[in-house]
Amino acid sequence: MASARDPGPGLEKRDASDQNFDYMFKLLIIGNSSVGKTSFLFRYADNSFTSAFVSTVGIDFKVKTIYRNDKRVKLQIWDTAGQERYRTITTAYYRGAMGFLLMYDITSQESFCAVQDWATQIKTYSWDNAQVVLVGNKLDLEEDRQVPTEDAQRLATELGFQFFEASAKDNINVKQVFENLVDVIFEKMNESVNGDAGSLASHKGDGLKDTPRSTQGSCAC
Ligand code: GTP
Ligand code: MG
Repeated sequence: MASARDPGPGLEKRDASDQNFDYMFKLLIIGNSSVGKTSFLFRYADNSFTSAFVSTVGIDFKVKTIYRNDKRVKLQIWDTAGQERYRTITTAYYRGAMGFLLMYDITSQESFCAVQDWATQIKTYSWDNAQVVLVGNKLDLEEDRQVPTEDAQRLATELGFQFFEASAKDNINVKQVFENLVDVIFEKMNESVNGDAGSLASHKGDGLKDTPRSTQGSCAC
C-alpha cells in the first residue's frame, strides 16, 4: 500500500487502471436528458467542460480513485442516458450501485418535476441501502432559474436524500457532491458493521420506501 500511495507523475493514470484499492464504490448518475450528467462527470474526472450537447447513447462510465478516511476508494461512475428510450438498458445497471447522483437542471422545472419518478426508479431497481444525493445543476444560470432552492431542499428532505446545487460549467460543488456521497456511503457501511443494520433500512424507509404524498405538492407541473 505504501508504494501505491507514493505520489508522482502519471499517478491518476495508474490509479485508473490498477487494482490496488481498499474499496470500490459503484455510483450512477441519473436524471432527465440535458440536465448535465455527462458534463458533471467530465468535470469531475477530467476537469473539462464543453458547451456542445452530445446526448449519451445508453450508458458509459469513468473510473476515478480518491483518498477518503485514509482509504483508497476506487469510484466506478456510470453515466446514464436520460432519454426515455434507453430506460430499459439504464435501469439494468441500478442493481449493485451504492450511490446515485439524481440530477435536475435549476433552469428546468420539468427536470425537477421528474425527480420523483427517478426516485421511484431507484426504489424499484436498486439495492435497499443505496444512498442518493439530489443535485441541482447549472447554478451558473441563476438568471434563468425556475426551481427555487427551498423547493428542492424540501423535496430532498422528504425523500431522505442529501442535496446540493452545483455547476459543471463553473466547477461549483462538483467534487463536494461526490465526496459527500462517498462519506455517506462510508457512514452507512459503518452503521451496518456496528450491528445497526436496521438504521440503513429505516433511513431508506424514511425516503424511498414511504414517499409522502405531500411531495407531489412541491411540483408545479
Ligand atoms: P443526456 O446524455 O441526454 O442524458 O444529457 P446529459 O444530462 O448528459 O447532459 P449533458 O451533460 O450532455 O449537457 C447538456 C447541455 O447542458 C450541454 O450543452 C452542456 O454544455 C450544458 N451544461 C451542462 N452542465 C452545465 C452547467 O453547469 N451550466 C451550463 N450553463 N450548462 C451546462
Ligand atoms: Mg449524457
